[in-house]
Amino acid sequence: MRLKLAVIPGDGIGPEIVREARKVLDRVTEIYGHEIQAAEVLMGGASIDAFGEPLTREALSVIRKQDAILMGSVGGNAATSPWYQLPPQKRPEAALLRLRKEMNLFANLRPAYLYKELRGACPLRDEIIGDGFDMMIMRELTGGLYFGERKTEERDGVVTAVDTLVYNENEIRRIAKRAFDIAGKRRKKVCSVDKANVLDSSRLWRRVVEEVAKDYPQISLEHMLVDNCAMQLVKDPRQFDVILTENMFGDILSDEASMVTGSIGMLSSASLNDTKFGLYEPSGGSAPDIAGKDVANPIATILSAAMMLRYSFDLDREAADVERAVEQVLEEGYRTSDIMAEGCTLVGTAAMGDLIAERIQG
Ligand code: IPM
Ligand code: MG
Repeated sequence: MRLKLAVIPGDGIGPEIVREARKVLDRVTEIYGHEIQAAEVLMGGASIDAFGEPLTREALSVIRKQDAILMGSVGGNAATSPWYQLPPQKRPEAALLRLRKEMNLFANLRPAYLYKELRGACPLRDEIIGDGFDMMIMRELTGGLYFGERKTEERDGVVTAVDTLVYNENEIRRIAKRAFDIAGKRRKKVCSVDKANVLDSSRLWRRVVEEVAKDYPQISLEHMLVDNCAMQLVKDPRQFDVILTENMFGDILSDEASMVTGSIGMLSSASLNDTKFGLYEPSGGSAPDIAGKDVANPIATILSAAMMLRYSFDLDREAADVERAVEQVLEEGYRTSDIMAEGCTLVGTAAMGDLIAERIQG
């Protein structure tokens, strides 16, 4: 099979972690007889430096011709980088939001799984961890506060900022269906997270999710308020299978979930639309403070590449092989510094990529 990819290294640790994911993908394609056709695209700060804007029309048109995007991260240090002197719509992050919207990537999947080898990196107590946890955060990605109207203006001499949280029933229905479909292949539980005790958008969310649930009698549905969910994630993470939630809540809860799995460097993600097209990126940021030092953990990006094989190309065996290789390397005790533990072997970004690539077996 030919895999047509847009590869967006991006900023900060992006280029290093994408390089390792490419290494693993090259190994997969060599062993399984596929072929990668990659188009490298600049986005974020790298694109601002080259073209004065974070995502050019040309970049977008190259991306549209591919089957999937493999991305590192965009953005820099907001306190020191000149990118943040630009107006908000010209900053690196604006490119990512625009890309999500342009490609209609409404379904963001963020699996938070505790590897048994990483129990030591989990900040929760042993009795809470139990036999581990495995949840999928399904975050709506093209609506809500991120894309509602916003402005800053003077009202009666007082500077006032407005952000709007909008959802229509169709936006809620399509992400809810995805969540139920995915739950069907897992432990058949959906926990829909909202703030229905305060927000109209959440009351609509709850109503539509209940309607969708009627078509999935085999899946159990529970509703949870977002503040309670934030608490439950550290109190009893084992209760969760699929967490379905809107854009902003999903942004916050997925960072929290990643930390209970030990490190944000382990959390992969897929952003999907109605076709097979997807954007695959680690959930963590560009971490400019550790960029270029060969210390970043490439595993989240490598696992994102595995999600790409599975969701965009239906290459389930290849995806499972990558996931198994990651597990094997962890079992053998290799760790990047973010997940380092006593008795383990500390390795850098590139060595971690090599180790995983070598363990792809076919
Ligand atoms: C994420 C990131 C982005 C978001 C930022 C970089 C705009 O935090 O993917 O979670 O808020 O969606
Ligand atoms: Mg985030």
